[in-house]
Amino acid sequence: MATNKMKMGPLLHINKDINCLRNLVLAGTNYFVIIDNNLQHLSSFFEDFPQIRLTACEQGKTLETVEKIAETLLELGADRDAFIIGVGGGITTDIAGFTASIYKRGVKFAFVPTTLLSQTDASIGGKNGVNFHAFKNMLGTITQPEWIFICPQLLETLPQEDFKAGIAEVLKTFILFDKEMYRTSVGYFSSVAKEYAQRDDRKNTYGKIAVNQDMDLLCRIIGKCAEYKCGVVERDEFEKGERRMLNLGHTFAHAIEKLSEGKISHGYAVSIGMVIAARIAGSMGVAQEGFAESLARDLMMAGLPSSLEECPATAHLKVADLTDAIKKDKKVTGNSLHFILPKGLEDVEDIVIPIETLKKICNDLR
Ligand SMILES: NC(=O)c1ccc[n+]([C@@H]2O[C@H](COP(=O)([O-])OP(=O)(O)OC[C@H]3O[C@@H](n4cnc5c(N)ncnc54)[C@H](O)[C@@H]3O)[C@@H](O)[C@H]2O)c1
Ligand SMILES: [Zn+2]
Repeated sequence: MATNKMKMGPLLHINKDINCLRNLVLAGTNYFVIIDNNLQHLSSFFEDFPQIRLTACEQGKTLETVEKIAETLLELGADRDAFIIGVGGGITTDIAGFTASIYKRGVKFAFVPTTLLSQTDASIGGKNGVNFHAFKNMLGTITQPEWIFICPQLLETLPQEDFKAGIAEVLKTFILFDKEMYRTSVGYFSSVAKEYAQRDDRKNTYGKIAVNQDMDLLCRIIGKCAEYKCGVVERDEFEKGERRMLNLGHTFAHAIEKLSEGKISHGYAVSIGMVIAARIAGSMGVAQEGFAESLARDLMMAGLPSSLEECPATAHLKVADLTDAIKKDKKVTGNSLHFILPKGLEDVEDIVIPIETLKKICNDLR
C-alpha cells in the first residue's frame, strides 16, 4: 500500500486492491458511513457500521440534505467521537465532509472516493460544501479529512460520461505540472476510447475497459495526479496563490455550465474551457506555437469535447456569450479577474485581466 502523509492533511492511500480498505475500516470504531445510493455493491465493506444513503445529484447538494443527515446521526447516537466516512463521488464527499466539519462543531472524517474526478480532485484539498440558491458550493468549510482511500478498481462501474468528466481534470493537472504524465495519460485514455468505440456488445462498461486495459498504469496516473493536488493544497491551503492554478479552464467552464443550465457535465465544460483559455493565450501572442490546436486534438482523442459546437447542450453558445456569465461569477471581484492562461505544457500563468479586455479578445475569437 502506498501512503503519502501530508503535513497538515490526510493520509492518501493509493491502492490497486479494494480489499485493503478492510485494513483501514476496523470494526469497533465509531464509524458512520455516508454512502452514494449507486454504490450498494460496496455496502459489505461497511457492514459493521450504520450507513446513511444519499442520492448524488446537484439538486440534492443542499443544506436540507445536511440537516437530514445530522438528524439521522443524532438518532443513531453519533457523538463528539463519531468518525464519518464519505463513500461516493464528489457530491457525496463534499456533503459528507461538510456535515462532519459542522456536526457537534466538527467530528473526524475520511473519504472513499469512487469517481475518477473525486479520486484525483474533489476528495483532496479539504474543500467541503453544498450549493445555495443558484450558487454552486457557496456554503462550506475548508477542513481536511483524516485519510483518503483511492482505488482505481472502484471505477469499474463508472458510466462513460462520468469517467470522461474525470479525465478532463486529470489532464488539467498534468498540463500544469507534468508534461510526461500528460502525454502518457492522453495515450492511455485515447486507447481506452478507441477500444470502447470498437466494442459492439457494450456489456463492458467504459469504466471496466478503462480500469482493466492497464490497471498499473491507471493506478500510476491517478496516484500522480492525486499527489500533485495534495502538494498544491499543502503549499496553499486557502487559495492565496498556487492553488488558483487548479482553476485552469474553470473560468469558462463555470460560465458554460451556467448557460447550458446544467445539461453539460463539469468535466466536459472544463475540457472546452481549457481550449478556450489556450486560444486566448494564442491570440494574446504568448502561447507556444500550435498549443491550442494540439490540446484540442489530444482532448478529442481522449474522448472529450474541445469546442462549444461539439455538444448539443452548448452548440447554440458563442465564446463571446460566456463573458457576461463570467462577470457574474462569485470569484470575480471588481472589474478584473484572475485568469489562468495556458501557454503550453508546464507553462501556465496566473494573470489578472480586466473583464472588458477578456471580452474584447473573446469577441475576436472565431
Ligand atoms: N471539493 C472540491 O475540491 C471539489 C472539486 C471538484 C469538484 N467538486 C464537486 O464534485 C461534484 C462532482 O463530483 P463527481 O463528478 O465525482 O460526481 P458525483 O458524485 O455526482 O457522481 C457522478 C455519478 O456517478 C455515480 N457514481 C459514483 N461513483 C460510482 C461508481 N463507482 N460506479 C457507478 N456510479 C458511480 C453517482 O451516483 C453519480 O450518479 C460536484 O458537486 C463538484 O462541485 C468538489
Ligand atoms: Zn473542476
